[in-house]
Order: sequence, then structure tokens, then C-alpha cells
Amino acid sequence: MAKKTTRYLCKECGAESSAWMGRCPSCGAWDSMTELARVVGKAGARASALDGVQRRGMEPVPLGEVPLDATRRRESGIGELDRVLGGGFVPGSVVLVGGDPGIGKSTLLLQVASALAARGETVLYVSGEESPGQVRLRAERLGALEEKLLFLASTELAEVSEAATQLSPALLIVDSVQTLGDPEQEGAPGGAGQLRHVTAKLSALAKDRGFPLVLIGHVTKDGQIAGPRILEHMVDAVLYFEGEERGLGRILRSVKNRFGSTHEVALFEMSGEGLAPLDDPSGFLGGRHLKGELGSAVTVTWTGSRPLAVEIQALVSAPRYGTPARVVQGLDPRRVSLLVAVLEKSGGLQLGGSDIFVSVAGGLKLNDPATDAAVLAALASSFTGRPLPDATVFLGEAGLRGNLRPGVQQSERCREAQRLGFKRILAPAREGGAEKGQRPVEDLRGLLDALGEPLESAARGG
Ligand code: TYD
Ligand code: MG
Repeated sequence: MAKKTTRYLCKECGAESSAWMGRCPSCGAWDSMTELARVVGKAGARASALDGVQRRGMEPVPLGEVPLDATRRRESGIGELDRVLGGGFVPGSVVLVGGDPGIGKSTLLLQVASALAARGETVLYVSGEESPGQVRLRAERLGALEEKLLFLASTELAEVSEAATQLSPALLIVDSVQTLGDPEQEGAPGGAGQLRHVTAKLSALAKDRGFPLVLIGHVTKDGQIAGPRILEHMVDAVLYFEGEERGLGRILRSVKNRFGSTHEVALFEMSGEGLAPLDDPSGFLGGRHLKGELGSAVTVTWTGSRPLAVEIQALVSAPRYGTPARVVQGLDPRRVSLLVAVLEKSGGLQLGGSDIFVSVAGGLKLNDPATDAAVLAALASSFTGRPLPDATVFLGEAGLRGNLRPGVQQSERCREAQRLGFKRILAPAREGGAEKGQRPVEDLRGLLDALGEPLESAARGG
């Protein structure tokens, strides 16, 4: 299946081209294009993965007759991770776990390896980053020393392939994919060509042998190492491990998943004994904010299988000379711009010329329009200088005219708000009627009204 075509790959940025060029058209590096012996990347990964299947002489069969065993998931033993994966590891699948150095990737995967090994499954953990002694010390601290957890210190693809072929482990973990290389291949380990080559080879082996493969990859703050990014399309699932720099909370979210939802997030806390799943993530993120504050509004987002309360913070400060600053974290900046425009046009709050900062507390990234109402409330509160009412939750997706619509799973979200002790839910009415504690608001005017007289009159310019 893998067609022999000559392709050229930029060693710097991983751009591909069908002709050799002295200067990479993508990143502008000089003399960085090298010839690829064969097509790797999307088509190549797929092709080599299929090679294995075809060697076993499989014929087309009705889907109903495909043995289910091949799709049975293997639970990692860490519930939060399993939920993000969509119910555990799928045999033969490749999962890329990316994140900043020091965020806790090695810790998490060592805990996964140990949990599986404790259930009698053989797990192979390959590290090219740390010495065996270092990993042993960490494993001891985590209580992760298990008979069936096997460790290999290696930076050579051939060694890893051989060990994995011999062992056929229940799970193979490579920490990190950037340290692994094939001396026969152009470029240094961690370079675009090597990364693709190593990933394609190990993926093919995983598919052939039917074990799940986890590749750990570093990303740097400025995205300098294109590493994990260029691998995203070659793997089945991509999880990013994130957290606030000094905070103890860690968020694992899926940005791609062939076998599950990408809305799921897992929350952990880094402790002396490794990562522990948060008992009540929703309470941790949003439930602590029952007291009304200036520029801070709580909403409940939906993550695919469960509601999660989160706090949205806004700061609107007096306009200065020049272009006003807009800094947005955890939300789509274009969405925030739209909401600012809605506040001006339908709400009469002239904040467009001000510096505006909006962020989601806890480092979470939201892509959920039903959190619009909270962004509007936080912005309005900061702009007018009036704190929001106590124990209030904001729900609803804003339209361009300032109207509010209910988002998906509004009832579930309302129930979660109640569980956490929120007394008032400002949300657009649903057909089935209002939820307990809900005060229906149909549009931005209604929302500002509900926030009390001071905010309302400020909005009127009074
Ligand atoms: P690590 O898993 O090495 O990060 P990564 O593989 O993503 O680079 O974890 C790094 C940090 O976690 C390190 O600063 C120490 C801290 N840590 C704990 O707080 N508790 C623990 O039990 C462990 C193992 C690490
Ligand atoms: Mg590490």
C-alpha cells in the first residue's frame, strides 16, 4: 500500500513538499529539506499499519462478524484517565500524551503502568529521558514497584521494537517520543523526520500485536518544538496535560479521540504521592465561589459526560491611549469580542474602548457557548464596578441580538449548581419549564435586570 514516492521533508518544521527546495517555504529555514525514502505521515502510517493486518491474510468480513475481542478496552486502572479515553485503552491504538516539561506526564503514566501491572498485566515502560535509578526512585515513592512493570532505558527504536515484540505487553509506554531515534534514518532524534518515522514504526507494531501504545511528548510554551503537533494526525487520540504553573491542579483533556468524546476532561491534584484524581472537580473549580464577587461569574459547563462548575473572571479597565488590550485565556477570543459587542449594542455598556481581560479559572479551556451568560455577567460586573449577587450561576448561549438560548443538558447543569449550593440560576427557560431555583432570563436586558438595580441603572447610564 505504501507507494514509493520521493517526498522532501523540512528537518526544522516538518513541512513536506514534492520538490526539493533550498529554502523551506513553510518556515524559511535554509538547506533544511531532506529526501524521505517513502511516504510517511498520514498515508504512510496508515499504510504501514495495514501492512501488518494484510500479512495475516485478513479478508473483508461483515462488520457484525469482526471479533469483538479486538475492540475490547483495557482499563488503565485510573478512572479519570479512562473516562477521557472513552472507557480505557483500545488495543492497537496509539495515544499521544503531550504537555509542558514538569507537568507530570511521567508520573501519570508510571501510575497507569503500575495499576495495570498490579492486575497481572505485563507493561513495558521505556524511558530515554531518565536513568533507571531515577525512575526506580520515583516508582518507589509512588508505590509503583510491580513485578510485571518492566523498565527499559533506551533511545534506540530497534531496541524498543525488539523488546515490545518479544514481550507483547498489555501496554507500551514510550517516555518520550522525542528521545527515540533510528540511526538509519536522517536527522537527530526529536526532529520531524525521526518523530514521524518512530511513530509510524511503533504504531504498526502496536496494531500488529494489538497492544495499546502511549507516546509521551513535550511541548514548549512557545510551541517551538513542533513535536507532538506534527504527530497529532498520525495517532488515534491526543491528550494534553495542563495546569497552572504554580497550582497543584492538573487537567488532562482530549483534543482528538477516534474512540470517544473530545469534551471530556480529567482533573488531578499533584501530591507527595503522585497524582490523585480530584474527588469533586466541580466543587474544586466552581463550588468555592458562592460569594458574589466583582467581575467573577460561575457557570456550569458540560464536558461530554458530566457537568463541571467553573468560574469566569473578567477585568475591564479604563481605556488608555492606543489600541485597547484584549487578553483572553481559556475561551475563544473571537467569542469574547462578540460578547463585548453584544454588551455595547444590546446592553448599553460602552466597554469596547477599554482594556479587557477574560480568563477561565483553574486553567480550563472552554468551548461551550452556554457559558456566554457568565462571560456577559463577569464583564458587566467589572465594567460597572458592582459585585455579582451571591450564590448565583449563569447559563445560556448569547445570540447577536442579545437573546439567550439554553445550551445542551441545561437540566443537568442546573442540578449540579444546586448540589454545589447555588441558590439562584439565571438561565433561559426551556420548554419543559423552569428548574428549581431557576429565574428565567430571555436576553441580556433580562440578565442585567436580574443582577439588581445598581447594575441595571449603570447600564442605562444612570
Ligand atoms: P514529571 O512526571 O517528571 O513531569 P514530566 O514527565 O511531565 O516532565 O513530574 C514533574 C513534577 O512533579 C516534579 O516537579 C515533581 C513533581 N512530583 C510531585 O510533586 N509528586 C510526586 O509524587 C512526583 C513523582 C512528582
Ligand atoms: Mg517526564
